[in-house]
Amino acid sequence: MHDAGRMPNAIPANLDEARLATLVERFYDKVHIDPLLGPVFNPRVDDWDAHKVLMTSFWTTVALHTGHYRGNPLGKHQPLPIGVQHFQRWLALWRETAGEVLDVESAALMIGYAERIGYGMRVGMGLTQHLRGRESGIPVRARQPPADRTPAAPGANG
Ligand code: HEM
Repeated sequence: MHDAGRMPNAIPANLDEARLATLVERFYDKVHIDPLLGPVFNPRVDDWDAHKVLMTSFWTTVALHTGHYRGNPLGKHQPLPIGVQHFQRWLALWRETAGEVLDVESAALMIGYAERIGYGMRVGMGLTQHLRGRESGIPVRARQPPADRTPAAPGANG
């Protein structure tokens, strides 16, 4: 019953649609010129203003519960030629921009949402290799190998 007491996150006092629109605006301005992400987005997004409006509606639906966004993000990403490194870069830019645009509490909330949604997408796309620790959005409980496993003898397996 892990989810028994789970409540939707409270909306921070300073977080509103205008702040999220600014976050989206600055974030996609970086994505647009990013050497790794730009080449994935630029052939597919010909109207960046429309994309920003769509993404603002997505994030206000996630964070402010506006319900304006209707779509299938996983279905949109599944055909993309992307791997783990794209998600890592996407999240790095998101963290950076959230820190620039939002207060600390709102930034932490928006970063947490993106980490969890990104994790879900990676699972849905079969891109779970190299997931570890905070980067996965899942807290790490045990990093040590099981106690009953002794290290292989040196040279045993080359
Ligand atoms: C946490 C990570 C991510 C989130 C939350 C996210 C979210 C979204 C959402 C909501 C859309 C709109 C889907 C729709 O049309 O309804 C979208 C579109 C798109 N995303 Fe992502 N995304 C993430 C990561 C990535 C990454 C890593 C890439 C690849 C570099 C990417 C590339 C794209 C592209 C190219 C589109 C436009 C697709 C199209 O309209 O054909 N996204 N994303």
